Amino acid sequence: MNVDNFRLQIGGKEYVPIIIGGMGVNISTTELALAAAKLGGIGHISDAIVSYVCDRIFNTTFVSRKRKKYAQFSNNPDKSAVLFDLEEVAAAQKKYIEYTISQKTGSGDIFLNCMEKLTMNSGIETLKVRLTAAMDAGIDGLTLAAGLNLRTLDLIQDHPRFRDVKIGIIISSVRALAIFLKRAVRLNRLPEYIIVEGPLAGGHLGFGANDWHTFDLKTIFTEVLAFLKKEGLNIPVIPAGGIFTGTDAADYLQLGAGGVQVATRFTISKEAGLPAEVKQNYLNAKEEDIVVNMASTTGYPMRMLTSSPTLRYAIRPNCEGLGYLLENGGKCSYIDAYYAAIAEREAGQPLAVKEKTCLCTGMANYDCWTCGHTTYRLKETTNMLANGKWQLPTAEDIFLDYQFSTDQAIRLPKPEVT
Ligand SMILES: Cc1cc2nc3c(=O)[nH]c(=O)nc-3n(C[C@H](O)[C@H](O)[C@H](O)COP(=O)(O)O)c2cc1C
Repeated sequence: MNVDNFRLQIGGKEYVPIIIGGMGVNISTTELALAAAKLGGIGHISDAIVSYVCDRIFNTTFVSRKRKKYAQFSNNPDKSAVLFDLEEVAAAQKKYIEYTISQKTGSGDIFLNCMEKLTMNSGIETLKVRLTAAMDAGIDGLTLAAGLNLRTLDLIQDHPRFRDVKIGIIISSVRALAIFLKRAVRLNRLPEYIIVEGPLAGGHLGFGANDWHTFDLKTIFTEVLAFLKKEGLNIPVIPAGGIFTGTDAADYLQLGAGGVQVATRFTISKEAGLPAEVKQNYLNAKEEDIVVNMASTTGYPMRMLTSSPTLRYAIRPNCEGLGYLLENGGKCSYIDAYYAAIAEREAGQPLAVKEKTCLCTGMANYDCWTCGHTTYRLKETTNMLANGKWQLPTAEDIFLDYQFSTDQAIRLPKPEVT
């Protein structure tokens, strides 16, 4: 039995049941998402820090113009006036998504990972614009992430594509799902798919920094299936977090999963956005190099490599140009930590910012090495080259390994000659 014995049905369309999860700030690139769609699965792009991503891909100037506009706030801890221009947000979003969707081939689809926690100093207004522009640009599906998304559906209920775009939610407990569904039922707009993310995932976690290891994906997944059955709801449930082999994936499909969402295996693919040397760090990581900490300013725990440069950041907050994590009112816990560090700094000592990191800058510069728990196993998935570096597999190598491997085997990519 392998993954290819199953198909995922979402909104009347059939897919190979493999979804590549969204990985913020262009780790899940256009190219990675396109590879999944080409092979009949689903690939995600993410709209985290999309203006910066646009500037890098298209040489636009969204960030530099915003930075210039708000330059007078660069040394001011009060960022309440540093607001996004909603038309610019929409323009960046459309540009990036149209660019991605226009290159789509194959029978799969491309969805957007859209994090509610990306509050941009005006959470509701900016979220509405992001989702609206994504639908205008032709995105196939919206995966609502990083938050309870209680009112998110309300924001887009008047959009002409509200009932045709595929909508999914990422949750880590039955409780969070029940809260979301209450509103969805009221709007008569149930999600087409539910992603259950367990404690071994990468990025932010829906568990406590100290108790994540007391939860496990299979238990939560089974609880979600039972809850939906009790409610009489037939919605595909897609587990995510720690599904490392095709056999792991097929086991979930046999238990009743609609598909699986995977990400860590793809972080080292040629198509992923991380710089090549950073991919080597992921491949060389040992289990003890992977930690869950509270350095993120979102208030959620995050998993990352201990060598992540962000953990040593003492840079001035970069909100004038970025500011994606400013809460309404212009607050961010890194701003507080940074100015506290300046106040406490002893003469002649380097500045050391405690506990928090400037996540916007870190993610934009690929300095925040967030990763899944199974990152230490990536070395099992590829070949060591003659030059002592690891070969980077293609997204297709990894996708087909998930689709066809059995018996916990992992098909290594065809060796590259260096
Ligand atoms: C490097 C990395 C970055 C991630 N970033 C995001 C993100 O921006 N938003 C999100 O909802 N999930 C994010 N995730 C979670 C994945 O989309 C996915 O659900 C999860 O990692 C799957 O588990 P696996 O990595 O063990 O396969 C990220 C995961 C990784 C590995």
